[in-house]
Amino acid sequence: MRSRTLILAILAVVFDLSKRAAVVTGATGNIGQTVIRAYLGQGAHVVAPVRDANRGEALRSALGPLAGSDADPLLMVVSADPADRAAMDRVVERTLRAWGRLDIIANLVGGYAASEAAAGDLAAYRAAWDQKVATAVTATAACLVPMRARGHGRIVSVASLAALKGEKAAAGYAMANAALLRWTESLAEETKREGITANTVLPRIIDTAENRAALPKADPSRWASADEVAALIVFLSADEASGITGAAIPIVART
Ligand SMILES: NC(=O)c1ccc[n+]([C@@H]2O[C@H](COP(=O)([O-])OP(=O)(O)OC[C@H]3O[C@@H](n4cnc5c(N)ncnc54)[C@H](OP(=O)(O)O)[C@@H]3O)[C@@H](O)[C@H]2O)c1
Repeated sequence: MRSRTLILAILAVVFDLSKRAAVVTGATGNIGQTVIRAYLGQGAHVVAPVRDANRGEALRSALGPLAGSDADPLLMVVSADPADRAAMDRVVERTLRAWGRLDIIANLVGGYAASEAAAGDLAAYRAAWDQKVATAVTATAACLVPMRARGHGRIVSVASLAALKGEKAAAGYAMANAALLRWTESLAEETKREGITANTVLPRIIDTAENRAALPKADPSRWASADEVAALIVFLSADEASGITGAAIPIVART
């Protein structure tokens, strides 16, 4: 425990999440790993439902002492599909058993796949919806049960700027992100007297190794960094953000 206190001091806690437990989906991705590091750095306990156990184990190892120990885990990695309600109910149960609470869910599952509007490619559009919307909606619905029981919750989902305006050859991606945004607004309206907030963050392009490789001629210094996206998610997860709900916040560039 002393080493954890030391780590938190070194990381400079800005928002105190030490009494908070968070579920993070998409944990093995670029943003997922960065958000988990940031949550742990602010003192939160984190559970990560993953579909690939090996990638989950690699995530735990990469976090080192920040992930805690077997006797006192600060990060639990569990195999579960965020789009499977029964599996997510088990994740919720396990979180409550371990830490007695569940306060935050960060929905970070996603990925880009091109699909043309003119092609009317329903299979591609449905795949984008399954990946982005079904995961966030199902995982959040499971987490809402203990949030409503305690009268406290923070729901933060990563959509994309494409939620606001369709782009060429990105029809399924834009539709899925728009759906997530609108669903979040509805949820914010339904929960706004319950101590629960629901917001989306809308990156355009994030500075990741994959994006650098895919766009070798672009200037990555203009892109939002994963740390900047994570900082926004941490803020929206904090008690201090209690007045922000139903918001869709673009994070599009380094200025
Ligand atoms: N990177 C960008 O430039 C950018 C820009 C705008 C918005 N975003 C959004 O930001 C979020 C995170 O992006 P990222 O860069 O971290 O992506 P990433 O590195 O590709 O990670 C995606 C994550 O989602 C998981 N995942 C994908 N499909 C899934 C499914 N059907 N069921 C369960 N898990 C699934 C992946 O799990 P596995 O490890 O098992 O594959 C991984 O953990 C995404 O929602 C993305 O759409 C990203």
